[in-house]
Amino acid sequence: MRIAMIGGGYVGLVSGACLADIGNDVVIIESDPRRYAALCQGRIPIYEPGLDALVSANTAAGRLRFDSQLENALRGIDAVFLAVGTPSRRGDGHADLTHVFGAAEQVAAALSSSTVLVTKSTVPVGTGRRLAELVAELRPDLQIEIASNPEFLREGNAIEDFMRPDRVVIGTESSRARAVLGEIYRPLNLVKTSILVTGLESAELIKYASNSFLAMKITFINEMADLCEKVGASVRDVGYGIGLDQRIGPKFLEPGPGYGGSCFPKDTQALMRIAQEAGAPLRLVETVVSVNDARKAGMAGRIIAHCGGSVRGKHIAVLGLTFKPDTDDMRDAPSISIVHRLIAEGAHIRAFDPVGMGQAREPLPESVHYCRDVLEAVDGADALVVVTEWNAFRAISPKWLFKAMRGNIVVDLRNIFDAEAMQSAGFAYHSIGRPVGHSRVMKALDPAPGRRQHISGHGVSTNAAAAHPC
Ligand SMILES: NC(=O)c1ccc[n+]([C@@H]2O[C@H](COP(=O)([O-])OP(=O)(O)OC[C@H]3O[C@@H](n4cnc5c(N)ncnc54)[C@H](O)[C@@H]3O)[C@@H](O)[C@H]2O)c1
Repeated sequence: MRIAMIGGGYVGLVSGACLADIGNDVVIIESDPRRYAALCQGRIPIYEPGLDALVSANTAAGRLRFDSQLENALRGIDAVFLAVGTPSRRGDGHADLTHVFGAAEQVAAALSSSTVLVTKSTVPVGTGRRLAELVAELRPDLQIEIASNPEFLREGNAIEDFMRPDRVVIGTESSRARAVLGEIYRPLNLVKTSILVTGLESAELIKYASNSFLAMKITFINEMADLCEKVGASVRDVGYGIGLDQRIGPKFLEPGPGYGGSCFPKDTQALMRIAQEAGAPLRLVETVVSVNDARKAGMAGRIIAHCGGSVRGKHIAVLGLTFKPDTDDMRDAPSISIVHRLIAEGAHIRAFDPVGMGQAREPLPESVHYCRDVLEAVDGADALVVVTEWNAFRAISPKWLFKAMRGNIVVDLRNIFDAEAMQSAGFAYHSIGRPVGHSRVMKALDPAPGRRQHISGHGVSTNAAAAHPC
């Protein structure tokens, strides 16, 4: 199949490279001159583990190429995927569809033959039908079939997610679109991926409903963590205990500073607006949005309280800036509001993130001092805040950390450290939903201390499941 992918960002680049890898002939069209230049020079403009090798192998094999112009690229194309951004529209939370309709117009103008136009971007219900009207009006001479094929990959694990998805959703009423997409995804179907074919509206809604449900799960465990702190329970044990119920499942039950990232905040907002306009408001999703916003806004206050009520003049090390590990994406990252508020309250911030510091410079205040490594960040710090749980931070030795820092306050917003080990090293250690002393009792019962495991007749499962949005 000959495929054009419009947009070479986190989704377009990964999807395009993966579709090429499973045997399709793919051209990725990128309009941003910097991203396009990087791609042409063999550089990957975003950070995604394994993507550079996948892109270079497929460009070398002649299945993947890049272009900035549509005319040549669209000749004889079987399917055009739209993978452009749909950020929140400023002011009202609706999805901003400027890029989607802009790209669709450009595609319609450049096509020389009939094709299938597929929305991979996350778009509100009804967008597919509006696109169908638009392209029919612009190109009455062509048969342009419309399909929705929402993407569920998570940054940081995107290649694996694309290649071995839980499901592929195809929303269309066109038999030709069904046949073309069926052929494109046939190699994934061979490895037992479910391909779900629905109407346009259902496919569009499945994406928003999935993200909102996951956001709800995170928000639930975050509130549960707050309750645990008040009543002396451990959110680790509670999350683990409820996650063993197969109707609930173990994933997305790790508490933290509130969900962020390029999808959940904007998608929950957009679903809320879609439902309000349809006259069927989703009160649960509305509550999730407001609880999460309040949590993110309140995180800095929690840190300040742990620092004795003031951070004025204090040196605070911040480890992790991106919204999750294994990505350089800073969109709606919890670190943004935390760092802004700490600086506004007079703190000096020394930050380190393994790959996100380039992207962090724009949303964070200029006065942030970016460090070469963990040591430079924590050296002489009065307090340490762990905001993103990069694996590299998990290996930090509490004793080493205690020697490096001047103060003894650690606020671990991702529960990466062992509470007991931190306390024995001398820290005033604050984590999320894990009251002091409780972990000791539960650990005595652990089959493998430090690594909660449940051994069942069906194998071993751990509670360290990925807890992050796309
Ligand atoms: N990031 C994720 O993990 C993820 C996961 C699932 C779904 N999504 C959805 O996928 C869509 C894309 O997200 P993203 O994170 O890849 O965004 P992104 O901003 O990283 O990438 C979009 C790219 O499209 C390019 N572009 C815009 N208009 C164009 C045009 N007319 N021609 C060519 N290129 C154009 C932009 O320059 C940009 O590089 C969004 O709707 C998002 O909600 C994202």
